[in-house]
Amino acid sequence: MRILGIETSCDETAAAVVDDGTVVLSNVISSASSRYTDLKGVIPEDAARCQMECIIPVIQQALKEANTVPSELSAIAVTRAPGLLGSLLVGTSAARMLSLSWNVPVIGVHHTLGHLTSVWPGSENDPQFPSITLSVSGGHTDLWLRSSHTKGILLGRTRDDAVGEAFDKGASLLGLPYPGGPAIGKAAASGDMTAFSFPKPLSSEDTLDFSFSGLKTSLRYLLRDRKLEISQPDFPLQDLCAAYEHSLCMHLVDRLEKAIEANPQVREVHVVGGVSANTHLRVLVTDLLTPKDITVRFPAAFGYCTDNAVMIASAGHALIREKPELLGSPFLTEATANLDEVLSA
Ligand code: KG4
Ligand code: ZN
Repeated sequence: MRILGIETSCDETAAAVVDDGTVVLSNVISSASSRYTDLKGVIPEDAARCQMECIIPVIQQALKEANTVPSELSAIAVTRAPGLLGSLLVGTSAARMLSLSWNVPVIGVHHTLGHLTSVWPGSENDPQFPSITLSVSGGHTDLWLRSSHTKGILLGRTRDDAVGEAFDKGASLLGLPYPGGPAIGKAAASGDMTAFSFPKPLSSEDTLDFSFSGLKTSLRYLLRDRKLEISQPDFPLQDLCAAYEHSLCMHLVDRLEKAIEANPQVREVHVVGGVSANTHLRVLVTDLLTPKDITVRFPAAFGYCTDNAVMIASAGHALIREKPELLGSPFLTEATANLDEVLSA
C-alpha cells in the first residue's frame, strides 16, 4: 500500500511517499522556521501564507522523488489536528482537493498518532507490542501503553509545559535561539551537568504525569539569585545548559522507569517527537533499558523526530489496516483535539 503523507500542523510544509508503512520513497520538507529565529516563536498567519505558496510544489516534489504517479497511490494521509488552524487548513484542503481530482481516498490523522508511529518508517523490523511510548515534543509530553499502532491507553501527560517548550523557554532565558532544544543540546555537550542542581518535579506524588514549568522557573531564579547575566564574559552557558538539560531528561526517565515497573509485560520502549533527537536523553534511556533487556527504539532518522510527513503516511497506513472504515470518511480539521482520540482502547 503506497501512501502520500501531508503534514502542515506548524510552520513546516511536508509531503512524503511511504510504502507499507515502513519503506520511505521520498521525504520533502519546506520549513519557514528560519523566518522566526529572532522572534522566539511562529507567526501563524505568516506561516499559513508561506504554506499556501509551497504546498503544491512540495507535494509534486515528493511524488517526483518517489517516482510515483497519483494512480499508484492507495491513499492520502493528512494531519487533521491539532496545530495552527490556518496551517492545518492548507494541508487538509490540498488533500481533499487532490483526493477529488485524483480519485484517491483521504484519511485524517491526529498529529500525535503520527509521532507515535514514527519509529516504524525505515526500521529494520516492525515495532513489537505491547510497548510503552514516551512522546516528547514542543506541544506534548505523554506516556502511552500501546497494544498496537493505533490501540492503547494514556498513562501520563504533562500538567503544564511540554518538555520541548521547557527547552525553548530555557534557551530564551539563556540567550539562545529558537528552537531551543538543539541549541541547549549543543552547548550542554561541553558542560558540567553537576555544576548546578534543579528540583525534582512532582517527587512527592505517586503519578506518571509530568510538570516542567517549575524547572523553567528554577532556571530563572537561579540566574537572578546568582546574578548571572548572559552579557557577562564568564557566563557559564555550557554548565547551565548541561545541568538544565539533565534535569529535564531525568524527569522524563524517572517517569519512564515508573511506567515500566508498573507494566512488566512490556518488551519495547519507543521514544518519539522532537525532543527524542536529544543525545543526552537517548543515552539516559538506553542506560536505563539495556540492563532490563528491553528494546528501545528511536525514530530511524533524526528527520523523523521533528515534524515530518513520513510519520503521517505511516500512521495513515496503520489506521487503514486497523480501522479500515476511516478511509474516505469525513473528518474535521481542528486546532485542538483531545489526546483521548489518539488511540482507541
Ligand atoms: O515534534 P516537534 O518537531 O514539534 C512539535 O510537535 O512540537 O518538536 C519540536 C520541539 C521543540 O521544542 C524543539 O526545541 C525540540 O523539539 N527539539 C529538541 C531537539 N531537537 C528538537 N529538544 C532537545 N534536543 C534536541 N536535539
Ligand atoms: Zn510534532
